[in-house]
Amino acid sequence: MSMADRDRAVLWHPYTQMLHAPAPVAIARAEGVWLYTEDGRRILDGISSWWVNIHGHAHPKLNAALAAQARELEHVVFAGCTHRPAVELAERLIEILPKGLARVFYSDNGSTAVEVALKLAVQYWRNLGQPNRRTIVTLHNAYHGDTVGAMSASEDSVFTRAFEPLLFRVERVGNLEALETSLRKSVAAVLIEPMLQGAGGMIVWPAEFVAGVRRLCDRYKTLLIADEVLTGFGRTGKMFACEHAGITPDIICLSKALTAGYLPLGVTATTGRVYDAFLSDDRAKTFFHGHSYTANPLACAVAVASLDLFRDEAVLTKVSRLERQLRAGFESLRKLGDVRVIGGVAAVELASDKPGYLDQIGPRLAAAFLERGLLLRPLGNVVYFMPPYCITESETAWALEQIGHVLG
Ligand SMILES: Cc1ncc(COP(=O)(O)O)c(C=O)c1O
Repeated sequence: MSMADRDRAVLWHPYTQMLHAPAPVAIARAEGVWLYTEDGRRILDGISSWWVNIHGHAHPKLNAALAAQARELEHVVFAGCTHRPAVELAERLIEILPKGLARVFYSDNGSTAVEVALKLAVQYWRNLGQPNRRTIVTLHNAYHGDTVGAMSASEDSVFTRAFEPLLFRVERVGNLEALETSLRKSVAAVLIEPMLQGAGGMIVWPAEFVAGVRRLCDRYKTLLIADEVLTGFGRTGKMFACEHAGITPDIICLSKALTAGYLPLGVTATTGRVYDAFLSDDRAKTFFHGHSYTANPLACAVAVASLDLFRDEAVLTKVSRLERQLRAGFESLRKLGDVRVIGGVAAVELASDKPGYLDQIGPRLAAAFLERGLLLRPLGNVVYFMPPYCITESETAWALEQIGHVLG
């Protein structure tokens, strides 16, 4: 039996209607931007394996860091114990995060990083004696993950509708004026994906908007949470998307490229002011949250090795080169719909009668790209290309050519 057949007998895939799904592509190994299939084909990873990979697959330095850490310490409980990879990663993050972020709380993935942020924000006000400040304000088209809190904060959509009875109410706004109206209520925090909303359709926001959100949060003395799960670690051309607007959020959520695509790890980092609100003789003010694999040493060690690559190999220069090539390459797609490019992400929103994630055009296009050796997963009628930063100019040119062929 083929791997795909064995898979079909026992597995249930994410975001997949198993009744109609095409046979999964069985990947045997990967290197750089290339995935190699069980049956000997080569496919370019045009979505960085769900936006996590940045330096390429099976990177020798990351592999070495992982193997070395496995020989020393694979895991240990993080309540009451600590270890070098966790401490070193936190120190290194605080050095590069927007100034003012001073404390690192680890969890397991992007959704948990957001859950932690939401829980911190609500408990922050409670600890300060303002328990009624508990409304969360988010943006239309937001996507923050698939756990219940993260879903509540996300746009009401096909992703969340079945779970509606479980979700809490949030205020959703689409511009600064609406945000200001919302902020007159008792708001615990404003949660945004700075500069780029990913799963909501690769929507690019101006830096002035992000700066405006910070200004209003200051004026109304509420917390700003930046969900940089997708945008963190160079994806928008800056190390963190908040840098485009020159702002520091009160809380930042990181995951995905944090470990360069190797292992799941989440970070929720806060300012000293947020952290201080949890220091008390009253034990009820403790932040009661944690996961079995909190601060997994293997994941932390790879994350540190990834930051070493940023330091040693001018990685952000690669992203700006990629951005220039994407801008030029997507120019000719303007005739098909709205084109949006930021950092290492390029998208075209195709004109559609039924825009949105369930637009049938997405799976059809994905099959056509795959046929040509390019792995893309359009978000409904939004086709995007988000390769690992290590992609070469000629590989990018080849991928752009395939996109042109399929869409043209
Ligand atoms: C902005 C944003 N936040 C949170 C998440 C959830 O991350 P995870 O899939 O690791 O739970 C995602 C995932 O796509 C994301 O794009």
